[in-house]
Amino acid sequence: MHTLVLLVLPALSRALSVKSCTQTSEDRSSLLATCPRTEDAESTWSLTLDLEPQQSIDGFGASWTDATTLLFDGLSESSTDDIMAGLFGDGEGGIKLELMRMTVGQSDLTPISDGRWSFDESVLPDPSLKKFRLGKVGDRMLKWVAAMLEISGDITLLGSIWSPPGWMKQNNNLRWEYRGSYVNYIVSFLQAYSSAGVKLDAITLQNEPLHSAAPAWTMHMDESYAAILTNLTADAIQSGGFDTKLWAYDHNTDHPEYPQYVVDNVKDGAVDAVAWHCYGGGFSPLRDFGAKNPGIKQYMTECWLHELTGGGFFDLPQFIMRPVQNGASGAMAWTLAGSVDLDVSYPGGCDQCTGLIQVNRTDATYEFSRDFYAMGQFSKFVKKGAKFLGTTGDHIYDDNTGVESAGFINPDGEILVIIMNKFNDDLKIDFQLQGAEGGSVVHVLKPRTVTTLTLK
Ligand SMILES: *[C@@H]1O[C@H](CO)[C@@H](O)[C@H](O)[C@H]1NC(C)=O
Ligand SMILES: *[C@@H]1O[C@H](CO)[C@@H](O)[C@H](O)[C@H]1NC(C)=O
Repeated sequence: MHTLVLLVLPALSRALSVKSCTQTSEDRSSLLATCPRTEDAESTWSLTLDLEPQQSIDGFGASWTDATTLLFDGLSESSTDDIMAGLFGDGEGGIKLELMRMTVGQSDLTPISDGRWSFDESVLPDPSLKKFRLGKVGDRMLKWVAAMLEISGDITLLGSIWSPPGWMKQNNNLRWEYRGSYVNYIVSFLQAYSSAGVKLDAITLQNEPLHSAAPAWTMHMDESYAAILTNLTADAIQSGGFDTKLWAYDHNTDHPEYPQYVVDNVKDGAVDAVAWHCYGGGFSPLRDFGAKNPGIKQYMTECWLHELTGGGFFDLPQFIMRPVQNGASGAMAWTLAGSVDLDVSYPGGCDQCTGLIQVNRTDATYEFSRDFYAMGQFSKFVKKGAKFLGTTGDHIYDDNTGVESAGFINPDGEILVIIMNKFNDDLKIDFQLQGAEGGSVVHVLKPRTVTTLTLK
């Protein structure tokens, strides 16, 4: 157990102490491990936690892809039982991911062996979707997503479409005469999943609508088309009897005018949230967007992991903390599982992407990646419905050392703070609550770590 340091807090009229301290380090010497005992020490850094609750949090997680499901299919049942309990369980080794994304049809992380596919791929147009079926790859996704929901009922599930069937497209845009077919395609997908007991909480109509590259897994969709399709899809979802929400945009923060246009030009309530990616624009646009659109939630739905080709230890905690500090209700990594041989992407796709789980297909083994443990520093502790609490005292120097932090209050009142120590030395943090009188907790954080402190 950890050193307990008592504080007198008149504002809360109760004593406060550190309940638990859990740490993951860059050098993997600590992986979601209890922090080494810390001595009282002279502090070298001050952090203050603001107790004013901000936006609520749905959770943190990662994305299922065709690569992920193929890799899991190649492992033994006992291996995948361990993996699934690690990702979604709330037992000892579980990190309880609660915000998940899945690719709907092909993506750039569809293995070449699956071929180019959709739920209705054919040479001749099939506007009435007579040939719609989930197919081999779609059934494989459904099986794993259903298995996930068997383990945890607390998961918010987002589906994202990378491309409609080829016959619906021209010059990598939607052929406008097939807009009705595209909307029906989406609703047919929701129906197929629903009849297997899987409910999608939200969908995005087009992953990265401003990125037009390989037609197998991208499509361009400008904001005026997105607005019209949003209205049509919202109606079709409602008449189909589903309560799946629409999240707009699903792309980088450098074009906030795109989701703003969509939100401004659709019927009230048609857009529930805006989905943002991390690859351009930083996260401050979320703050401005939130101020202008207080009724719209925001999520960071995609940021890549690439642990084998230079991805940094702090990338993941940064792409969770920074959007959340700017108003996001959750953040997701791309992807859930990757291959140690980097051999599961479609031509032109992300051939360096890794996952929270890394699979070796040669000998059918797997490991929980460093990023799995960094993710657990958030997902294991921040409960669905928690509220974000701001902190004062973060600073990053030019050499990228420094401190970044985020606070949360869980629905049961538990307060926690997650801190990155980006220095190469111990950091002695003098930690206090805003408005609370009388003392503070001094806590020693090991070099190059992410630490979660729960308080009581
Ligand atoms: C969406 O529907 C609303 C309500 O009917 C309408 O005011 C709006 O113009 C529509 N937007 C588009 C882009 O069709
Ligand atoms: C995958 O496993 C094989 C067989 O054990 C081994 O030779 C290979 O080095 C492993 N690959 C990686 C990238 O670790």
